[in-house]
Amino acid sequence: MPYRLYLCAGLHCAARGPGTHATLEHALWEAGLLGAVELHLSGCQDHCDHGPNLLVQPGNYRYVGVTPERAAAIIARHLRDGLPVLDWQATPELRRKAP
Ligand code: FES
Repeated sequence: MPYRLYLCAGLHCAARGPGTHATLEHALWEAGLLGAVELHLSGCQDHCDHGPNLLVQPGNYRYVGVTPERAAAIIARHLRDGLPVLDWQATPELRRKAP
């Protein structure tokens, strides 16, 4: 099953990583996966203080703090090599707190 990526386009994530979409596209191209992986924008993923956030399906892997370096590593290690990067996964305590 091909991977589907959902990059949070909510206000907080967009402000924290305005170039993340382009960085992911470039990393997909470098890994030879452009066209083989769907890259979508999503609404808020409820981890606003730790963005940019990226959900990878299948598997429901939610990455937080997707810097350009992490984006390249996620594409190479998770999508190309099939090894999710567990150190950068969202955890319940990182969820946005109710007001
Ligand atoms: S704005 Fe991205 S998780 Fe809320």
